[in-house]
Amino acid sequence: MEMRPLHEGKLDRAQTLSNARQNTAYETISVTPVTRVIGVEVEGVDMTRPVPSPQVEELGQALANHNVLFFRDQPELTALQQIEFAKNFGPLHMHPAAAKEDEHPELFVIHTHGESFVNNGADWHTDVSCDEEPPLGTLLQIHRTPGSGGDTLFANMYAAFDALSDKLKAFLQGCTALHESEHAYRGRYADKGVDDTGQIFPTAIQPVVRTHPVSGRQALYVNETFTSKIIDMEREESDALLTFLFQHMKRPEFQVRYQWRDNSIAFWDNRCTQHLAMWDYWPDERYGHRVTIKGDKPFYQA
Ligand code: SIN
Repeated sequence: MEMRPLHEGKLDRAQTLSNARQNTAYETISVTPVTRVIGVEVEGVDMTRPVPSPQVEELGQALANHNVLFFRDQPELTALQQIEFAKNFGPLHMHPAAAKEDEHPELFVIHTHGESFVNNGADWHTDVSCDEEPPLGTLLQIHRTPGSGGDTLFANMYAAFDALSDKLKAFLQGCTALHESEHAYRGRYADKGVDDTGQIFPTAIQPVVRTHPVSGRQALYVNETFTSKIIDMEREESDALLTFLFQHMKRPEFQVRYQWRDNSIAFWDNRCTQHLAMWDYWPDERYGHRVTIKGDKPFYQA
């Protein structure tokens, strides 16, 4: 009988993972990886002032390469400063269901406390993938952390796609899927004063594998919050395939788990990540501001 080395298969997986990030030299920012696969700490950016265009350019590149950018030791941004910084990357996206602040309707207040009955983003998702043109990226500053807990987990969807077999990749590249939101959004923001009686919630058909418009790389683009069915498959086939993909994408080796400190900022790329906000701090409070940047219609290009 032919002896197989114990590590067979493991090296391939390790190689795939270590290729997950593209190395680029930056001149206007300093970038330190948090894991080998996803996430960098970024220094050298002052979000309280207008940001020079070469730096905006590099931040956009870093976002596409590293999936999520973390900024420590930041001042607490005013709503306007956060909005102005986000607008460097495109017009802002309006959330279809969440409560809107009168003065700044683009701002989404993240606030969970002892009386909350639900936590925003508690299941794996890509922000608002049910919109025809889902947000390109999201900028979140947590002003007040619960002290411990309240981490956010991010997963790299390039790495999740790369780790599939060539056969399954080829099959998925031809697939589209339905993304729905009524089940996720109806009544969801009632505790923030939203009356959604009669509201129609968005649905969209998206490619199962999307090509990132900046990096040109392929990323898995289904998530368990919004993706309900693969088009042109029987219900049982679709359920089985989605169940596999939802399990696959949350493998720990694709992830980084971010421990917030007061005023930390995360800027993630919704085109190549998923995330989950951990609610393990009840009855304590966690408070922050989120703005999202409008994206394009997702597409697949061979
Ligand atoms: C979200 O899903 O946008 C919330 C993330 C978080 O609160 O950490």
